[in-house]
Amino acid sequence: MAPHAGEAPWWRRAVIYQIYPRSFADGNGDGVGDLKGLCDRLDHLSWLGVDALWLSPFYRSPMRDFGYDVSDYCDVDPVFGTLADFDALVAAAHARDLRVVVDWVPGHTSSDHAWFVEARSSRSSPKRDWYVWRDPRPDGKPPNNWVSAFTSGGPAWTFDEHTGQWWLHSFLPEQPDLNWENPEVQEAMLAVVRFWLDRGVDGFRVDVVHNIGKDPALADAEEKYAALPHCVLNDDPRTHGHLRRIRRVLDSYSGDRMMVGEVFLLTTEQIRPYYGDGDELHLSFNFPPMFAPWSAEKWRACIEEASALLDPIEAWPTWVLSNHDQPRHRTRYGGEARARAAAVLLLTLRGTPFLYMGEELGLENAVIPAERVVDPGGRDGCRAPLPWIREAGHGWPSDPWLPFPPDAAERSVEASIADPGSMLHLYRRILHARRASRALRDGALELLSSPRGLLAYRRVAAEDARVILVNTAEASASIELPSALVVDVASDGVGEGGRFEGIVAASRALILRPV
Ligand code: GLC
Repeated sequence: MAPHAGEAPWWRRAVIYQIYPRSFADGNGDGVGDLKGLCDRLDHLSWLGVDALWLSPFYRSPMRDFGYDVSDYCDVDPVFGTLADFDALVAAAHARDLRVVVDWVPGHTSSDHAWFVEARSSRSSPKRDWYVWRDPRPDGKPPNNWVSAFTSGGPAWTFDEHTGQWWLHSFLPEQPDLNWENPEVQEAMLAVVRFWLDRGVDGFRVDVVHNIGKDPALADAEEKYAALPHCVLNDDPRTHGHLRRIRRVLDSYSGDRMMVGEVFLLTTEQIRPYYGDGDELHLSFNFPPMFAPWSAEKWRACIEEASALLDPIEAWPTWVLSNHDQPRHRTRYGGEARARAAAVLLLTLRGTPFLYMGEELGLENAVIPAERVVDPGGRDGCRAPLPWIREAGHGWPSDPWLPFPPDAAERSVEASIADPGSMLHLYRRILHARRASRALRDGALELLSSPRGLLAYRRVAAEDARVILVNTAEASASIELPSALVVDVASDGVGEGGRFEGIVAASRALILRPV
């Protein structure tokens, strides 16, 4: 796609919409969403007004971690379709000016991947060193105290009886960690990156990328952190060299190819180095705000921290409230009014916002009966299928792989489009407001002084300015602003186009523009 002359790169201006392909739309009627289903719904995403799609993995996989356990990086799993379907999707998206970002899982393969099958076959296998193997400790225990994710605090190691060594897995035993210190692994993974760039993708969301470099000493984690999965602690400098190499591959392609890293570390300060000197990640997720409660003071602190630590030139921030790993924010924050106000917040901060499919419908987490639980990480609730129409079945030709979220008929796309007061229309209005305002897209952000419970900030770019007010309190808040302003967007849709009178009702948010 052609770059827009003279403007910031697309990924600084874009709103990126995450699609969990299993749950978006089912094109072949097997109860699992697929690329064909997604392709058929692109007009809806254009109508909504997002700029880019990020697709969670659709590669060949035994689905122990629903695609984050890849057994062939260069093919589409039959449940999602074919490479031809993927090519058709990219072409159809680009024809609508939608960019396509794909997930890339560099840190581990599936244990079914041919590389691991080979590596496991003997200690002298040519692929042995592609993974991380260690002898048992003298007492027969795992090589260190690291804990894996999704195993209820189990070790990050599994013993291979056949070869008498342990393999490292930051996640499930079926997700063995690749050894990025091996140059052949680097080459093989860069070939994967080229494979998808050659097919026209605009970028990658890079899974748990801070975890790829590891100190080969594999020292024990400090006792005070030892109960945490090691993947939230691993912060090894070797990763930066790997990122620079990956970045050079992206930069060798035309068209502003981008990578956004899932840097799942505990503080914003730890995230900054992953942007490098503009030569590592283009964007990094910053998870601390996602875990902040619905409180103006807590959010103010997160915004101050992002402003102080992430510079707009080489470390453009990102903002996200929901994804396929966390309970939906409507469920976390409690209720519709807050979720609406949160949409205003998410889409007006300085940085690139990421939406998670279904938040624009105001979906809550689904309730999953015990017998339908499928994810070892307990994340099924946020991965429930999207309801497209009111009618039972909600546009899914057969019973989907997970139950629908609550109020699926009323929250369906069909019902939401028909109701101008719906959350969907609110998202659409905010996205239009962003398109109309340079200040909202890439202007500076100034926090304004405000009473407790009210978050107030101004976005400014050249002649353009907006003021945003988000009341997280349970009571109205008043604020005096230096000039007269008009309500551009209101989270409850009330009073848009009218003068702002100085009061923000409880759990309400406003975008204000000059008269
Ligand atoms: C990331 C993904 C998550 C996956 C894990 C292992 O955190 O977002 O869904 O389970 O990596 O690949």
